[in-house]
Amino acid sequence: MPARIINVEDARRLAKRRIPKIFFDYIDGGAFAERTLRANSEDFGRWSLEQRVLRTAPNRNLATTYLGRRNALPFMLGPVGFLGLYAANGELKTARAAAAADIPICLSTFSINSITDLRAASQGDLHFQLYVLRDRELAREFIAGAVAARASTLYVTVDTTITSVRERDVRNGFRALQHLTPGLLARLAMRPFWCLEMLRSGMPSVGILKDHPEFGLGALAQATNLSRGIDPDLSWHDIAWLREQWSGRLVVKGVLSGEDAVRACECGADAVVISNHGGRQLDGAASTISILPEVLDAVAGRCEVLIDGGFRRGTDIVKAIALGASGVLLGRAYTYGLAAAGEAGVTRIIELLRDEVDITLALMGLASIDELKARGTSVLRAV
Ligand SMILES: Cc1cc2nc3c(=O)[nH]c(=O)nc-3n(C[C@H](O)[C@H](O)[C@H](O)COP(=O)(O)O)c2cc1C
Repeated sequence: MPARIINVEDARRLAKRRIPKIFFDYIDGGAFAERTLRANSEDFGRWSLEQRVLRTAPNRNLATTYLGRRNALPFMLGPVGFLGLYAANGELKTARAAAAADIPICLSTFSINSITDLRAASQGDLHFQLYVLRDRELAREFIAGAVAARASTLYVTVDTTITSVRERDVRNGFRALQHLTPGLLARLAMRPFWCLEMLRSGMPSVGILKDHPEFGLGALAQATNLSRGIDPDLSWHDIAWLREQWSGRLVVKGVLSGEDAVRACECGADAVVISNHGGRQLDGAASTISILPEVLDAVAGRCEVLIDGGFRRGTDIVKAIALGASGVLLGRAYTYGLAAAGEAGVTRIIELLRDEVDITLALMGLASIDELKARGTSVLRAV
């Protein structure tokens, strides 16, 4: 199956055929008119790359440092909820693919496998993404789980204190799902291979809620109840509070302005991720790549700046690094791979993007990602 995937779009198409529509649309869709979702990818076209000839370096080095570690590739796997619903043990499969590629994976709060399961299955660099709940005791418990699993980095996601409207999900009744109804079962049965795989692995439930029966039974009810528990009044004071709770690396994910990025640094964040949640929240917000220069300018080296949103090509990654991002987080790109072909699909996407980055560097006459970082915007032209 992975051989038929020669780019991210292929994986997307296969995923659409393999998993139930209700889940595919949840992955693929964005807020309202999906303008920001489209802009994230389209705006890479604002820059072109410098082509240089007759100076191709042999054995380009794609390793680079971000989030306190020398990583084999300039991109990592960012937090995506419910990987375990797109493939059985989806989080474990994804973590294994990340560890094999020697890149970090960030596990979402909304995961079927827990961070403890991931640590048991992988010695790789694990990160944990936290949605801060009104119940701070529970938030503390989640953080303790990440500490026990030796997660190196904690992300607090700040762009989802309320959930926007994703019309595909409304149409499919995704948000209203609480349990399996006959109608839903009939729709799921249209994807028999997926059904068989899920049946074999047992009823999925949210790993982090294992000891919390008050959230209900099964992933659907648990997810609804957990979402309701997210604190809509989260403020910058809470980032400072988190800083006190967590002694590892702290990342604020979901800033889209220079001022907010500076505020995050002032509250003790080690890094920010420029993100609009993949166009799933404020439709009409700017693309992340277009905001990157503003954020770098404002932050002026006070903390590290990473980025996600719309990355589907190696050239997109090269442009973000040239503009000054220290690393890139993938979202849908690897999720399509997982939904299309499980662990092999994630591995395939990582390899394809690695090769695309490598070829791009070669054709630009660059020997490494570190050289790209040193050359910076001098290898770009505004279109
Ligand atoms: C299906 C799906 C679920 C997501 N779940 C989470 C989540 O649980 N926590 C989080 O911080 N971000 C979540 N995100 C946002 C991603 O981390 C990331 O910001 C976004 O996917 C980047 O855009 P891209 O998918 O176009 O690469 C999710 C994104 C998708 C597509």
